[in-house]
Amino acid sequence: MTPQQQRRQSQLAFAASGAELAVGSPADCPLPLDQLLATRPDSPWVRRHFAGGLTAEVYQLEAGGRLWTLKRARTPCKVRNPDGQTSFLNEVQRRGELQALKRQADWGEALAGIVETRYASYRQGLLLSPWIAGEAIDEWDERRLLQLFDSLRALLQLGFFEWDLCPGNLLDDGRIRLFDFGYMYRFEPLHSFNSNGLLSPQHHGAERFETRCYYAHLLRLEHRRGQSAALAALELEKRIALDCYQRLHRELSTRGASATVLAWLDGIIDQWRTALRDGLDGLYLREA
Ligand SMILES: Nc1ncnc2c1ncn2[C@@H]1O[C@H](COP(=O)(O)OP(=O)(O)OP(=O)(O)O)[C@@H](O)[C@H]1O
Ligand SMILES: [Mg+2]
Repeated sequence: MTPQQQRRQSQLAFAASGAELAVGSPADCPLPLDQLLATRPDSPWVRRHFAGGLTAEVYQLEAGGRLWTLKRARTPCKVRNPDGQTSFLNEVQRRGELQALKRQADWGEALAGIVETRYASYRQGLLLSPWIAGEAIDEWDERRLLQLFDSLRALLQLGFFEWDLCPGNLLDDGRIRLFDFGYMYRFEPLHSFNSNGLLSPQHHGAERFETRCYYAHLLRLEHRRGQSAALAALELEKRIALDCYQRLHRELSTRGASATVLAWLDGIIDQWRTALRDGLDGLYLREA
């Protein structure tokens, strides 16, 4: 079985088992659990309702003097494939793991861009987080890129691979925040490229961001300000990605990563370094 088949099988088995998976305690919620579960678009504690999500319905709540995000799972999920059907379970699994790491002194700051989970229950289809008072990102600048790549590096080191780095899953409130983990899968960073083991070397952290997000930004730049503006934006992103991957290489190497993983990272790093030195035209097209 491939790692992907293994993950799917164990998630489907968990779903069929009837077992509960919860993060945190209902006692930590700003409203009684019954009230949260009874939330409807016209409930008095609802400030806004977003019905557009494929996995969940999202409510903005006001309680205890602050704003919260209540995510209620859709059953069935509107994404009709195995990964879509287990995406809420997957999100609760990741939130449990990430919340535990966020509490560790070593990882708290590195994972500050990962939203807190106040409470989550898989069987009740409920997830409560602080509201992120941020804006959607359609213009990327240096600060935003640095913060995103810092979060990515922490996640990759810890063995979390986010496949869906799309604009709808990122917010900026002065810090780039990640809050949707429906397609973030575990992997073994010392011996694997991503959550598909060694099967799909074309997919890595920077590639996910470029494919799902950054190339749309580059296309808009080309239209509005021409090719040289787009190439300058690619150069900025690649310099930041290069620094991120060089650090990642050092960290994984210190921890005993396999020769295969280190050679794969070396290959990516060399391509970027060469293009940054000799000209980015070829890389621009290749990565697109
Ligand atoms: N903690 C939060 N703070 C502010 N806004 C949020 C928060 N969580 C979610 N949202 C808003 O709700 C939208 C949908 O949330 P999310 O991406 O978690 O749901 P989803 O159903 O998994 O989405 P999809 O499956 O379409 O990616 C987000 O794009 C964002 O605008
Ligand atoms: Mg989303």
